[in-house]
Amino acid sequence: MIPGPARVILLLTSAALLLAGCGLDSPMTTVEPKSDLGRAIHELFMNISGWALLIFVVVEALLIGVVFAFRDRPGREEPRATHGHLGLEIAWTLVPVIIVIAIAVPTIATIFKTNAPPPREALAIEVTGHQWWWEVRYPELGIVTANEIHLPVGRAVSLSLKTADVLHSFWVPQLGGKRDLIGGKLNNLTFTADVPGEYPGQCAEFCGVSHANMRLLVVAQSTADFEAWAGRLKAPPAPPSGEAAKGHQAFLAGGCVACHTIQGVAAGVLGPDLTHIGGRKTLAAGILKNTPDDLARWLKDPPATKPGALMPKLGLTDDQVAALVAYLRSLK
Ligand code: CUA
Repeated sequence: MIPGPARVILLLTSAALLLAGCGLDSPMTTVEPKSDLGRAIHELFMNISGWALLIFVVVEALLIGVVFAFRDRPGREEPRATHGHLGLEIAWTLVPVIIVIAIAVPTIATIFKTNAPPPREALAIEVTGHQWWWEVRYPELGIVTANEIHLPVGRAVSLSLKTADVLHSFWVPQLGGKRDLIGGKLNNLTFTADVPGEYPGQCAEFCGVSHANMRLLVVAQSTADFEAWAGRLKAPPAPPSGEAAKGHQAFLAGGCVACHTIQGVAAGVLGPDLTHIGGRKTLAAGILKNTPDDLARWLKDPPATKPGALMPKLGLTDDQVAALVAYLRSLK
């Protein structure tokens, strides 16, 4: 048996540790929505949580009250049992019915809201899930990229979601709910981001050994910043020179061209488009920072970093890796 004061200290320490979790900077949070879709889902969650809390408090208060009021004491008679009390029967049938209606109406309204067809002015973005990366296309803008979705705040975006292989699920917690990518089916997810920022996402449907490494980044930015980004991605990268030119040769001579596209250089379709990889924030579907060291590590042995990665270990020499790093980083 733990002595009294020790128990209080233990309780306070546990509570402090537990509550510390609330103060963490959590980019994968769903309780700080940054879009209309996220807010709609969060409001419903708060609504239902409110009802659950109310029911918990009322039921527990009644239970504790009854336990104390009717507890056994020496010389006390058995409490009188009540059978077939019409008023009570009606009350505990009607009250749950009213609560279920109060939950069902906003739930159904939110389901319709989150599945509404995209508005005409929405920016169309096609997202294709692959084991284990995201292909991103902007058909109106003629832009192809991977693992990083840029969008302007204040304008609706309409994501057309499909898969190239197995089931995946698109999930950027701060921007809204999950939506599955299903073979032979085109799913849509429409939302308007309203706060500029970088929002990490994660594939939310088990899709193989590197499912946990299938991440993405959404960059919500002002219209001016978005247009500057789109302008940069539409232009071809600068011609390579120096070390980057050696890397360009290594890219053509090695296996890279078989799987990757670089506008005007190669047109592989199995892996991510690398035309502007130098300007992306992450590598390998969000698991590495886009730094020279991480890029070199990735090129040397992709499956060592990302289990099951379809990009093989190409057996590149250190010189080839250095040249490729210089070349890929020049593709801004
Ligand atoms: Cu893709 Cu899990």
